[in-house]
Amino acid sequence: MTVDLKSGSLYALLKRRGFIYPSFDIYGGVSGFYDYGPRGAALLRRLQEEWRKFFVVQEGFYEVETAEITPEEVFRASGHLDRFNDYLTRCTSCGASYRADNLIEELTGKEVRVEPAALNSELKKIRCPRCGGELADVEEFNLMFSTAVGPGGGKKSYLRPETAQGIFVNFPHLLREARGKLPFGVAQIGRGFRNEISPRQGLIRMREFHMAEGEFFFNPSAGRYPPFNGVQGEVLRLLPAGGEEAVLRTGEAVERGIIRSEYLAYFMVISKRFLEHIGLDGGRIRFRQHRKDEMAHYARDCWDGEVLTSLGWIEVVGIADRSAYDLSRHQDASGAKMEVLIPYDEPRRVRVRRLRPRMDVLGPLFRGKAKAVSQAMEALEVPEDFSGGDVILEVSGERLKVPEEAYEIQEVEEVVTGERIIPNVIEPSFGLDRIFAALLEHSVDVKEKEGEEYRVMHLPPWVAPLPVAVFPLLTRGGMVDIALQIARELREGGIEVFYDEAGSIGRRYARADEIGIPLAVTVDHRTAEDGTVTLRERDSTSQVRLPMKELEGVVGDYTRGCINWKDIKKRYPPQGG
Ligand code: ATP
Ligand code: GLY
Repeated sequence: MTVDLKSGSLYALLKRRGFIYPSFDIYGGVSGFYDYGPRGAALLRRLQEEWRKFFVVQEGFYEVETAEITPEEVFRASGHLDRFNDYLTRCTSCGASYRADNLIEELTGKEVRVEPAALNSELKKIRCPRCGGELADVEEFNLMFSTAVGPGGGKKSYLRPETAQGIFVNFPHLLREARGKLPFGVAQIGRGFRNEISPRQGLIRMREFHMAEGEFFFNPSAGRYPPFNGVQGEVLRLLPAGGEEAVLRTGEAVERGIIRSEYLAYFMVISKRFLEHIGLDGGRIRFRQHRKDEMAHYARDCWDGEVLTSLGWIEVVGIADRSAYDLSRHQDASGAKMEVLIPYDEPRRVRVRRLRPRMDVLGPLFRGKAKAVSQAMEALEVPEDFSGGDVILEVSGERLKVPEEAYEIQEVEEVVTGERIIPNVIEPSFGLDRIFAALLEHSVDVKEKEGEEYRVMHLPPWVAPLPVAVFPLLTRGGMVDIALQIARELREGGIEVFYDEAGSIGRRYARADEIGIPLAVTVDHRTAEDGTVTLRERDSTSQVRLPMKELEGVVGDYTRGCINWKDIKKRYPPQGG
């Protein structure tokens, strides 16, 4: 029997083995919400730690943790208030709601343009899957959960639908951290909240989910991105919008303009490496470029990292080119400067046109404010096509009109040290729950032993919920005491242990295999005599014998990926007969 996402059999296993539970299960559950049990929480934490190794440790991104509840003005500026919508259709008979594009694709297998006319025309050809009723024309539905901060109605706010805005609004602080220099990246791992219209498909579409996002800020005029040299030979499977699928070297994909920049391509490669590193099958990973009509409002280009599962290809990471969109919008809306000074190699002398204030006119006109007005005038650069007339200025939040007789236009020579730009952004945005689900499906294998079926989760040691199990072979002969002592010593060394003494040793191995524990230590008759134990590998079920004093080092090295099972077998060959 296969165990997969589509039939739900994987979820049954995950629930039984303590990976996930439907939230509020005892009250009947709420769709779109899942809780992580002890095994799932551990696996999720490891995925986060490995992600952190890639983006925070290796790429050097600054990690932040920002507020989840966000005031309305942030999402007005970012465009989410007006445009973070999906198209909803309702059944005219039973009232069931569906996300229109998903329903059409599900029922017809066809891709549809995500805009009202195309959706409405397709909806006329299908029926409500629940009752067979007719489906109404689409309406826009905003996906953000709203709330109010403070008493008495409070300040209109939303739960963040992405962690990214928390990074953008902190840009001036983060730029200081980066000593004012580009490029730099910022990472955030945290929850995102979306009021999805019809969340079915378990962990694939949740209303509260785990994101891991990176925002990489750079100067688009800087040309090449040097670290790209190190990845350009790597091969990617690409499905460009409106083009044929192709397997290409990344360097070639950029040269041929299939991927628009080295920056975007670089983070596609890093994303792929991460997905493979945590155990997804590289042969079932591809990158699909968004069509214009499916692109998020903030994106200029986007490639989805997709993984093939029993549900078809599912998006697990979106790598978007957000241009200078978000920072520009927040600069306009908040007045905070989101600019970076890009220094010239040598300071340049330039001729600029400036306003020279005439204090004899400004004084009587603006009295106490005259000084502030004159300073604001001097800071203005006069455009080539301006030849005179009223000048409108904003001084301390007040708009003031300065008449023509209050200034002269002068051409002066100035020294300029650099150019101010608003950085561009590449964003790899990972959905950890989807990765979790796809990873478990790719990892599970059904085995049979003595007429009984059991499952093995072939998770890499660095993401497995627990690194090692410790078992006494029997509950007699002092084996329990030694096993408990081994467990305690490993735990003191920082290694989490799955200890189990109940049932036959075969069943205990099977249970550990189903959780994905890569190594199992067994204390047997010989242990009390010579201080050795057996160490069994989950994937091959082969065993070695080693001194229990060496367990901590071996298990630790194995979990970190410093040694593999072959190395361990070489180190501890079978002793004569
Ligand atoms: P979809 O088109 O499937 O709704 P999206 O394109 O809106 O997804 P993004 O906005 O790019 O998704 O979000 C970034 C990542 O977050 C996705 O790649 C996905 O892994 C994850 N994600 C998005 N929505 C959900 C959700 N409802 N449940 C679980 N993960 C999600
Ligand atoms: N931050 C990317 C997204 O939510 O789509």
